[in-house]
Amino acid sequence: MTQHSALNTQHLATSTHGGGIVILDYGSQYTQLIARRVRESGVYAELFHWDTDADQVLALEPRGIILSGGPNSVYDESAPTLPAYVLKSGVPVLGICYGMQLLTQALGGKVVGAQEREYGPAGVEVAATDSPLFKELPTHLDVWMSHGDRIESLPQGWQSLAQSGNSPFAAMGDTTKQRYGVQFHPEVSHTPLGTAILRNFVIDICGCAANWNAASIIEESVARVRDQVGSGRVVLGLSGGVDSAVAAALLNRAIGDQLTCIFVNHGLMRKDEPEQIINTFGAQFGINLVAVDATETFLGALEGVTDPERKRKIIGELFVRTFEAEANKLGDVEFLAQGTIYPDVIESAAKDRPGAHRIKTHHNVGGLPEDMKFKLVEPLRYLFKDEVRKVGTELGLPDEIVWRQPFPGPGLAVRCLGDITWERLETLRAADAIFREELENAGMLRTGTSQAFAVLLPVKSVGVMGDNRTYEEVIALRAVTTDDFMTADWARLPYDLLARASSRIVNEVRGVNRVTYDITSKPPGTIEWE
Ligand code: XMP
Repeated sequence: MTQHSALNTQHLATSTHGGGIVILDYGSQYTQLIARRVRESGVYAELFHWDTDADQVLALEPRGIILSGGPNSVYDESAPTLPAYVLKSGVPVLGICYGMQLLTQALGGKVVGAQEREYGPAGVEVAATDSPLFKELPTHLDVWMSHGDRIESLPQGWQSLAQSGNSPFAAMGDTTKQRYGVQFHPEVSHTPLGTAILRNFVIDICGCAANWNAASIIEESVARVRDQVGSGRVVLGLSGGVDSAVAAALLNRAIGDQLTCIFVNHGLMRKDEPEQIINTFGAQFGINLVAVDATETFLGALEGVTDPERKRKIIGELFVRTFEAEANKLGDVEFLAQGTIYPDVIESAAKDRPGAHRIKTHHNVGGLPEDMKFKLVEPLRYLFKDEVRKVGTELGLPDEIVWRQPFPGPGLAVRCLGDITWERLETLRAADAIFREELENAGMLRTGTSQAFAVLLPVKSVGVMGDNRTYEEVIALRAVTTDDFMTADWARLPYDLLARASSRIVNEVRGVNRVTYDITSKPPGTIEWE
């Protein structure tokens, strides 16, 4: 057993979606994208580390296997290898980059080391226009190359399907055995028609049905949850974020009254958020909801605390204690549900692996202690964020929740610099609401910014209002664009929008007389100011 097998302790799709696609991960930074693209074609795909036990992989009854790219050369000492079951299984195989080199080597072709990596955009000419891999595609394709080694001679039975300036074997295949390789990365956006290539592979070549959609995801997940919890009771912490909200809606569909949600209001939510949570989940969905207003307790504990790390620690500990106390009041609850999603699962599995190439630190949203005596239910464990959103919409959650931007677990505490008091929080909430309203009106909250918010600074500056001198605090506006929140750029917001937000904040929000816009990228800045 490998450490990575934690990734796939149970399958989501062994029943009706049995017959999806297995992706073996050889360490490319793009492997997750392969799964996302395949799923966008309506076909279930699951990731496995390349040396996961055969039984575990084959339990999915795959109709096709994709071998990802990776940073190694097939000649490296201890280079990852091709497990025997891949070729034995008889299902179609697509090797991408390193995956193609592995196939070549395993089938008797020749891979040679190159002095230099080929990296970047390239043009590919499709020679085998009748190949099912390139069905309905033009003969010229813009692609993204990233490889070191190259193929010198093909295995027996294989032919070149496409060439690039640098490679006579930009794509190759054995049509009889339905095995293919591409030197480029069809999964990245720099290969604009790459999704079509992957769709051709999974649907035309592997014969998968395109039946992975919000409705079928819900059906699968409901069945799996019912199977896991039986008649047991489940408790779930609602944070206001997308993931816990969708998990709640899904569990409600699956087990109704067996679910109780606990919402701990720490007083650090944004404007109108607590009311919206209570209204949506309590009134509209009719979920058993325990809403605890712990504002006083949290603000009491935070009184006079200005150090960001101490703030976080106090909030984290108090949150757990409050949640635990409420959960204990519920009596015989067996399960704790969490809104863990697939990228969290993949990333933490990768992090545990020796020599991992992707290392990511997680901020845990309201993380609960491991010694809580619950069994875990994770209904979103196999879903990407875009799938979580589709499921949320299909289950009837409002757009404001489904399309909510990420919000840190410690809430406004990381955006209210200096002393945290109710008055300062109200100032921050009002400014933040104006900024987000202006972004929403300009259509820039859902697209155009990945995260946008106001920060209240513990700095006073002089201003003039009417004939009076003012001496009040400063609001900093922060808006960033990012794919993964590990790096980010400041959003180039239109000046008019910034002007409207600034003027409204100064005029409408008491205690603020100056607004600045943060133009720091990450790195060297972080997204939150803390
Ligand atoms: P930074 O500030 O590190 O933030 O660039 C990266 C992303 O993480 C979010 N963030 C948190 N999320 N608990 C969370 O759940 C936290 O303690 C926390 N701190 C930062 C931040 O909002 C951004 O999306």
